[in-house]
Amino acid sequence: MVVSRLRSEVRKQLKENGHEADWIISHATGMSQSDFVMNPREVTDDEMQKINEIITRRNSGEPLQYILGYTEFMGMTFKVNEDTLIPRQDTETLVETVVTGLGSKKVRVLDIGTGSGCIGISIAKLCPNAEVVLLDYSDAILSVAKENAELNGVNVEFIRCDILEEIPKGEYDIIVSNPPYIETDVIFSLDNIVSSYEPVEALDGGFDGLMFYRRIIEEVAKEILKEDGEVAFEIGYTQGDDVSEMLREEDFSNIKVLRDPCGNDRVVTARLRSGIFHSI
Ligand SMILES: C[S@@+](CC[C@H](N)C(=O)[O-])C[C@H]1O[C@@H](n2cnc3c(N)ncnc32)[C@H](O)[C@@H]1O
Repeated sequence: MVVSRLRSEVRKQLKENGHEADWIISHATGMSQSDFVMNPREVTDDEMQKINEIITRRNSGEPLQYILGYTEFMGMTFKVNEDTLIPRQDTETLVETVVTGLGSKKVRVLDIGTGSGCIGISIAKLCPNAEVVLLDYSDAILSVAKENAELNGVNVEFIRCDILEEIPKGEYDIIVSNPPYIETDVIFSLDNIVSSYEPVEALDGGFDGLMFYRRIIEEVAKEILKEDGEVAFEIGYTQGDDVSEMLREEDFSNIKVLRDPCGNDRVVTARLRSGIFHSI
């Protein structure tokens, strides 16, 4: 079948996921989307079989990113598997905030709950003077982050640490984190894709969704942030007031809640107040 006809056929078969047709065809055939128009050709039987297998898995609910094994984030390619959360476009707001703030400063950055490494690796790529450390709790997760660091040509460090139990070693200028922030009870009522396929450990923020912010703000940051060090968190869109209040109570200053392009609260940043004059 010629590719132009195949596109509308695949769109139909994918039903509500029809917008993913071009990505699937590109993946299976190696043709770029401009090839579909400029250099169309017949799709081979092998390619057709690959496409049909992907459609079957996709129609049973499996996320396309897990089927193909990669996704795009900040214009870069990141490998993903069932151990790692699929990077979301929402999270680009956090990366853009940090990258804009850092510019070419020489700073040490810790990405807590790195998963695929999408946040820390993007920062390392876009801020070449930043020394970035990626932290997560399991070797399986960190090995995906390592592959992604190589794939994107950045030099970063890795720490395996359960942030709820241990305080990582070292001193940092910036803690950046998109921690698990969904209330435990809500997780299993989420969209089928999220609750059946993505790792619960990447989502579960405890009974009120705030467990990781509490731990990082009240215990971790004070131990490992340098004077005037800063935190930048992704938050759920209803969590801006709670996280800001937590930061205020723990003596952070310059607390800002920033919105994503859809207008939802998405990022909180703050500075650890320090120095001998701050309380006067
Ligand atoms: C919401 S996901 C974010 C993943 C990735 N940073 C992103 O933005 O796509 C939260 C991450 O926190 C990690 N995590 C969960 N519990 C943890 C713990 N106790 N210690 C360290 N990391 C943890 C998960 O493995 C997961 O990678």
